[in-house]
Amino acid sequence: MRKSGRSCTHDAWFGAFLLVAVSLSQSHQCLLSALVDAHALTVNKYSTTPIGPNGTTPGDLNNAYSPPYYPSPWVDSSAAGWTDAVAKAQAFVRQLTLLEKVNLTTGVGWEGEACVGNTGAVPRLGFPGFCAQDSPLGVRFADYVSAFPAGGTIAASWDRGEFYRRGYQMGVEHRGKGVDVQLGPVVGPLGRNPKGGRNWEGFSPDPILSGIAVAETVKGIQDAGVIACTKHYILNEQEHFRSPGDFEDFGFVDAVSSNVDDKTLHELYLWPFADAVRAGTGSIMCSYNKANNSQVCQNSYLQNYILKGELGFQGFIMSDWDAQHSGVASTLAGLDMTMPGDSDFDSGFSFWGPNLTLSIINGTVPEWRLDDAATRIMAAYYLVGRDRHAISPNFNSWSRDTYGYQHAFAQVGYGLINQHVDVRADHYKAIRVASAKSTVLLKNNGALPLKGNEKNTVVFGQDAGDNQYGPNGCADRGCDNGTLAMGWGSGTSDFPYLVTPLDAIKNEVASNGGILQSVTDNYAWTQIVALAQQASTAIVFVNADSGEGYITVDGNMGDRNNLTIWQGGETLVRNVSAYCNNTIVVIHSVGPVLVDSFSNSENVTAILWAGLPGQESGNAIADVLYGRVNPGGKLPFTFGTNASEYGPDLIYEPIAGHDSPQDNFEEGVFIDYRAFDQKNITPVYEFGFGLSYTTFSYSNLKVSKVAAGAYSPNTGLTQPAPILGNSSHDASQYQWPSNLTYVNKYIYPYLNSTNLKDASHDPEYGLDYTYPDGATDGSAQPKIAAGGGPGGNPQLWDVLFSVTATITNNGTVVGDEVAQLYISLGGPSDPVVALRNFDRLSIAPGKSATFYADITRRDVSNWDTISQNWVISNYTKTVHVGSSSRKLPLSAKLSF
Ligand SMILES: *[C@@H]1O[C@H](CO)[C@@H](O)[C@H](O)[C@H]1NC(C)=O
Ligand SMILES: *[C@@H]1O[C@H](CO)[C@@H](O)[C@H](O)[C@H]1NC(C)=O
Ligand SMILES: *[C@@H]1O[C@H](CO)[C@@H](O)[C@H](O)[C@H]1NC(C)=O
Ligand SMILES: *[C@@H]1O[C@H](CO)[C@@H](O)[C@H](O)[C@H]1NC(C)=O
Ligand SMILES: *[C@@H]1O[C@H](CO)[C@@H](O)[C@H](O)[C@H]1NC(C)=O
Ligand SMILES: *[C@@H]1O[C@H](CO)[C@@H](O)[C@H](O)[C@H]1NC(C)=O
Ligand SMILES: *[C@@H]1O[C@H](CO)[C@@H](O)[C@H](O)[C@H]1NC(C)=O
Ligand SMILES: *[C@@H]1O[C@H](CO)[C@@H](O)[C@H](O)[C@H]1NC(C)=O
Ligand SMILES: *[C@@H]1O[C@H](CO)[C@@H](O)[C@H](O)[C@H]1NC(C)=O
Repeated sequence: MRKSGRSCTHDAWFGAFLLVAVSLSQSHQCLLSALVDAHALTVNKYSTTPIGPNGTTPGDLNNAYSPPYYPSPWVDSSAAGWTDAVAKAQAFVRQLTLLEKVNLTTGVGWEGEACVGNTGAVPRLGFPGFCAQDSPLGVRFADYVSAFPAGGTIAASWDRGEFYRRGYQMGVEHRGKGVDVQLGPVVGPLGRNPKGGRNWEGFSPDPILSGIAVAETVKGIQDAGVIACTKHYILNEQEHFRSPGDFEDFGFVDAVSSNVDDKTLHELYLWPFADAVRAGTGSIMCSYNKANNSQVCQNSYLQNYILKGELGFQGFIMSDWDAQHSGVASTLAGLDMTMPGDSDFDSGFSFWGPNLTLSIINGTVPEWRLDDAATRIMAAYYLVGRDRHAISPNFNSWSRDTYGYQHAFAQVGYGLINQHVDVRADHYKAIRVASAKSTVLLKNNGALPLKGNEKNTVVFGQDAGDNQYGPNGCADRGCDNGTLAMGWGSGTSDFPYLVTPLDAIKNEVASNGGILQSVTDNYAWTQIVALAQQASTAIVFVNADSGEGYITVDGNMGDRNNLTIWQGGETLVRNVSAYCNNTIVVIHSVGPVLVDSFSNSENVTAILWAGLPGQESGNAIADVLYGRVNPGGKLPFTFGTNASEYGPDLIYEPIAGHDSPQDNFEEGVFIDYRAFDQKNITPVYEFGFGLSYTTFSYSNLKVSKVAAGAYSPNTGLTQPAPILGNSSHDASQYQWPSNLTYVNKYIYPYLNSTNLKDASHDPEYGLDYTYPDGATDGSAQPKIAAGGGPGGNPQLWDVLFSVTATITNNGTVVGDEVAQLYISLGGPSDPVVALRNFDRLSIAPGKSATFYADITRRDVSNWDTISQNWVISNYTKTVHVGSSSRKLPLSAKLSF
C-alpha cells in the first residue's frame, strides 16, 4: 500500500528493531515496513489467510493476519454512562490549541516527572497533565502505601464485595498520592498457560470469573476518583519475546505474535475486557505483543473495530511502555496516548510529540482524530470526577528521598519531591480479611483447624520467614527470598511491613503457652529431620514465583520454566512428612504447582493454597489455621500433575524461519479446566474447588424462564466525527517558544524548524505513503451489529433465565460456600461446562441459604463468525449448580 517501488518485504522485524534502537542511519527501508505491518495489511508478508470478519477456526492459524479497519471510531456522545463526561470533555478540548492537544496525548519521557508516566500539561488553563502510576495491587514506587493481595489471589475469594473493596481502597491510595490513572486491573494475560510470568497480576484463566473481578475492581477504583487502566489489551500471554529486542542466545527477535481465531477472541480473551468496558473503565492499555502478526498498539482491527467499535469503548487507549512502534500508523489505528512518550527510554525522540504536530499540519492525520484522542482522555477524567479529586503528585517514583530532582533523568528542578503522605488509612484490616477469604483449603484430614493447644509446633521453610534483605530488599520484588507475598516486576508496590507466617504463628503459639521452633533454611537436613521427629504439628511453607520479563530470578525470565515448587520445597515436604505424621503444607504461589508427589501422603494432613496475600500474609494464614476464619476460597485455576496437561507450551525459543515467533492459540477456548475436561484428564484439584471446616449440600434447583425481547443487531449510522478544532497548518505557529526552559530529553509538542522534514528528524519523512482506505474519513459510519453500548450490544445482558438453589450447611460451624453455576452450551466445539455465575454465601450451621443467579443472553450465546454477532445455537443447553467445576450435583435443561 505504498506508492514508492522500494522493497522492504523481508525486514519487518528489522524495522521494529531499529525503531526501538533509534538507529536512524539504517532505519530507511524499515520504517516503511513498520508502516506496512501497522496498517497496510494486505502486503504483510504473512497475510494470506484473513482472520477477523468471517474468521477461521482454531487449527487454521498459520499465516494469521489482522484485517484493516478504518476510520478510528470517535466518541459517541450518547453512550450510556458517558454523556456528561463526553460533553465536558468536548467543551474542554474545544478551547485547546493544537500543541495543547498534542501535549495531552504524549508522555514527557521516561523519568521526566514524578510518576511512571506523565503527559504534558496545559499551563495556559492551569491544567497539570496526567500522572499514570503502577500497579494493579497498590501504588508502586512510593512509601506509606499498602500492599494488597495480588489479582490472582483475590480472585480465589470469589467475592464481589472483596473485589470492589480492594479496588476502592487501591483507588483511594492512588488518589491520595496524586495519581490520575492507576495502571490496573489486569485481565491480559488471562492465563492461557500457567507458566505465564504475569498471570498472577490478573485474576483467573476463566473469563467469567475474570470479567466479574475486573468489573468490580474498575468500579471500585473509579468510585474513588481515579481512572482505571485495564490492561494489557490483548493476548499478552507470555513474557518471552513480548517486545522486539536483542536476546543473548538468539540475536534479534521480533515480538511474538499471538495468533487467534475470531471465535476464541470473543468467547475467551476479549470477554473480560468487554466487562471492563461495560463497567466504565476510563482507559485500556494496548500490549507489547503482536496479534495475528500486527503490533497491537497499531492494530486497527483490534483497536478500531473490536475495542472502540464493537465494544463501544469511550475512554482512551494508552500504550504499554514503548509498545508504540510507529507514528501515523498507530494514530490512525486508534492509539490515544503514548507512554512514556519517548520512542526509546530517554532518547528524547518520540513517534508523537513533534511528529504528531507534524502529522496534523502536513495533512496526513485529520485533526478530528487528535481531537478524539484528547476528548477520550478528558472524558475519562470527568467520568471519574478527577476535576473534583485531583491533587498534584506528592511522591516521586525515582527516589524515596525527601528532596531531589523533579525531573529525575535530566537532574534538574531540585526541591521537595516526597511528602511521604500516608495513604493507608485502616486498609490493613480489609487486606487481612481479604487474604484469609482468598485462602483455599485443598486437603484436610481433620488436622485443621488447629486448636491452639498443640504440644510441639514446628514451622519449616524459607517461605515462612523474612527476606534477609528486608521485604523490599530486591528491586521490584525481583528475588524469591523469604515468604512470598507478591510476584516480581512492575505489578508490585513496596510493603509497608510484611507479617510473615512465622511471626504470626509464633505469636499465636506463645500466647497459648505452647512451644514453637522453626527452620527456614530448606537445605538444613540435620536440623529439619531432628525437629520433624519431635513435632506434633509441622507446618511447611513452600512457594513458586514468577514476574515480568525484565527481571530474571533463578533462571526464570519472567515466565516460569516449570511448574514445580521452588527452592527444593517439594523435597522439604517429603522429608518433613517422612518423619512427622501431621504435616500441614501451605503454598504461596503465582499459580498452580505440582503437588502430586505429596498430596496423597497420609502424613500430609492438610494443604492450603494462600496465593500472594500481600502485607498481612502471616495474620491471614494464622486466622485460617487457627479457625478464626473458616476457609471459603475456591481455586481460580486447576492444579494438574504435568505442565503439558494445560495445553501448548509457552515459546521459550524463537522458531526458525519466522522473524516473529508464531504462537498459534490452536487450543481455541480450551484452556485450564476446559482443557482438562475436554481431554478427560483428572486434575489434582479442579477449578472452583475448595474445602471448608464444615460441609455443604446442594438441593432444590429451580430454573424459570424470563420474558425478554428478541435480539436485534445494532443498525444505522454513527454521527460524523465531531469537529472541535480547525488549527492552522502554518508551521511557524508551532515553533519552540524562545522563553521555554528546556528539560533535557523531555518530549514537547513543538517543532524546531519550519522545514517540516528537518523538524521531524526523520529521514523517511514525507515519503508518499498511501494510508489505508477510509482512515481519514470523518463521515457517519455504519454501526457494528454486535455493538450498541459500552461492552457490546446491551441486549446481550438481557436476563433469559433466573435460577435458584438451596445450599445447606451440614456442619457445626458457620462457613462460606461459593455456589457456582456452569452451563453446557452443547455444541461440539463448546467446553463440557463453562462457568457463568457464582455467589459467596455465608451460612450458619444447620441452616440453608438460597443461591440466586441470572442467566443472560450472553451466557448462552456463541460468537458466530459469519454474522459477526452472538447467536444462541440449537444445541441442547444444560445448567449445572455445585461447589466446583467437577462437583455439580444439580442440573437442568434450559428450554428456550
Ligand atoms: C462475511 O461473510 C458474509 C456472508 O458470507 C459476506 O456477505 C461478507 O461480505 C463477509 N465479510 C467479509 C469481511 O469477508
Ligand atoms: C506542554 O507540556 C509541557 C510539560 O508540562 C509544558 O512545559 C508546556 O508548556 C506545554 N505546552 C503547551 C503548548 O501547553
Ligand atoms: C519522529 O518519528 C521518527 C520515527 O517515525 C523518529 O525517527 C524521529 O526521531 C521522530 N522525531 C522526533 C522529533 O521525535
Ligand atoms: C536471595 O536472593 C538472591 C537474589 O535472587 C539469591 O541469589 C539468593 O540465593 C537468595 N538467598 C536465599 C537464601 O534464597
Ligand atoms: C523449576 O524451577 C525452579 C525455579 O527456578 C527450580 O528451583 C527447580 O529446580 C526447577 N525444577 C525442575 C524440575 O527443573
Ligand atoms: C509417616 O510418619 C511416620 C512417623 O510419624 C513415619 O514412621 C512414616 O514412615 C511416615 N509415612 C510416610 C508415608 O512418610
Ligand atoms: C502420629 O505419630 C505420633 C507419634 O509421633 C503417634 O502418637 C500418633 O498416634 C500418630 N498418629 C497417627 C494417626 O498415626
Ligand atoms: C513565554 O512567552 C509567551 C508569549 O510571549 C507567554 O505567553 C508565556 O507566558 C511565556 N512563558 C514563560 C514561562 O515565561
Ligand atoms: C507527515 O508527518 C509525519 C510525522 O512526522 C510523517 O511521518 C509523514 O511522513 C508526513 N507525511 C507527509 C505527507 O509529509
